Amino acid sequence: MLSGKKVSETAIHDQTAVVYPNDLNAYGTLFGGRVLETCDRLAGVIARRHSGRVCVTLGVDSVRFLAPAKHGDTLVYKASVNRVWKTSMEIGLKVFTEDFRTLSRVHILSAYFTFVALDDHLHPVEICPVTPETEDEMRRYHQAEERRKLRLQKPKSS
Ligand SMILES: CC(C)(COP(=O)(O)OP(=O)(O)OC[C@H]1O[C@@H](n2cnc3c(N)ncnc32)[C@H](O)[C@@H]1OP(=O)(O)O)[C@@H](O)C(=O)NCCC(=O)NCCS
Repeated sequence: MLSGKKVSETAIHDQTAVVYPNDLNAYGTLFGGRVLETCDRLAGVIARRHSGRVCVTLGVDSVRFLAPAKHGDTLVYKASVNRVWKTSMEIGLKVFTEDFRTLSRVHILSAYFTFVALDDHLHPVEICPVTPETEDEMRRYHQAEERRKLRLQKPKSS
């Protein structure tokens, strides 16, 4: 049995970035694909930290762009392992804009990434368990199982 890791050992609490002109869409607000790419990269960092393996993105779901961000905004990324199964894991991400004057935050994006850990032959390999500790971590852990059931109900091609 692999020894487990706590959620807090691999989580990203406060990764910041500034929205520059080349991050904008044609309407002058933050381009969603740009922020999703960053989310995928950060989720991948957490997946590798947790598993100690090469990991690939299997899927991303429940993406919600809740509010726009604009040129000059500070973005704050938060991400953590919600749950681990045998060879796959769910990483949850939230992105906020932060007002640098007041430090008040607006939640602009949520998403769930599923990653699979691979062995040296690029076959799925067992991942060590995750230990949720806080109330929020426990809630995410339980809700992740419900989300996985829905994902597995969908045919692979859809
Ligand atoms: C990810 C990949 C290795 C999985 O291969 P596979 O043959 O489908 O592997 P398996 O059927 O053994 O499934 C692997 C895990 O994914 C899970 N899985 C499969 N379909 C799923 C779905 N729709 N939703 C959630 N999990 C799913 C399985 O349950 C299993 O997890 P578990 O062991 O924890 O139960 C393969 O699909 C792949 O290489 N995809 C391309 C990845 C990629 O290029 N990503 C972009 C760049 S990083």
